[in-house]
Amino acid sequence: MRSVIDITDLTTKEVQELCDTAIDISKNPEKYQNACKHKKLASLFFEPSTRTRLSFEAAMHELGGDVLSVAGADSSSTAKGESMADTAKVVSNYADIIAIRHPREGAAFVAAKNASIPLINAGDGGHCHPTQTTADLLTIYKTKGRFDNLIIGLCGDLLYGRTVHSLMHAMERYDNVKFVAISPDELKLPSYMKTDNIEETTSLEEALPKLDILYMTRIQRERFDDQNQYERLKNSYRLTPELMKLTKPDCYILHPLPRVDEIAVGVDNDPRAVYFEQTLNGKHMRMALILKLLNDTSNSNYDIGEEGDFKCINNKCISQVEQELPQKFITDSCGSKRCVYCDN
Ligand code: CP
Repeated sequence: MRSVIDITDLTTKEVQELCDTAIDISKNPEKYQNACKHKKLASLFFEPSTRTRLSFEAAMHELGGDVLSVAGADSSSTAKGESMADTAKVVSNYADIIAIRHPREGAAFVAAKNASIPLINAGDGGHCHPTQTTADLLTIYKTKGRFDNLIIGLCGDLLYGRTVHSLMHAMERYDNVKFVAISPDELKLPSYMKTDNIEETTSLEEALPKLDILYMTRIQRERFDDQNQYERLKNSYRLTPELMKLTKPDCYILHPLPRVDEIAVGVDNDPRAVYFEQTLNGKHMRMALILKLLNDTSNSNYDIGEEGDFKCINNKCISQVEQELPQKFITDSCGSKRCVYCDN
């Protein structure tokens, strides 16, 4: 079966097909109302969520299917110490497809490797969030009409921002896409995300006039080990109606939400503020993705990497807590080793 852990598990052709299906779903919902009749989605959310969980569940309901739900780590046997591998094997006996969110980076990879049904990563720690990216991509497509020739500003927590990492992986596959990474020094992109087409700055004001898309993100309290550092950084950026005057007339503002203070409510009335439309696009893309994976006969391969005398250095990696997991690495062309679970 086919699973989606990272946005690059989908080709650009498949992304376009998902966008086309999502647009058709939004225009002709009755055509799809029984498309998943007698199918069940297991919605496993071990970390808080409003949009992703509810939009996955709404997506399955609107396709005529059913939903089995775990909301919160305390309401499943994970709280008793059950491993991710065992959880995935068990849930595969009850459902037809899994959507999983987990605070540990690489958790979705381990779950997909052990599941016997398709699995969708609904966010694994600070690592990836591919279905948020599908929402972002449809929003870019509907507003700009293209994926190429764009300058995309990414603002806020770029170190732990999984939505930013997934969006970059998706967009760097198109022609002439450049990124302006706007963050405090402490929250710059991790080194494994750095490529030649990125300009880094700490100044939102300086970046604004260049951008075709501004992707705002929240400084994420829950990702900080040091709460004093969070307090110091939490008010780093705030997009206001005044600052909007510095943008191009066709620069659209996206945000994965939830928002805290980084976009003033006054910006919501600007027709280029499309973050609430983005949440609806997310439901339609999740419907399209569920349909695709339930009908896809190809297989994902999670039997990758080599074992050796290595240990992942990322203290948020699933391999740090699931002791039975083999430490596995991929060696890149420069000889650097990358953890197969969390990419660090
Ligand atoms: N954008 C996003 O992932 O929101 P939730 O955490 O509410 O799912």
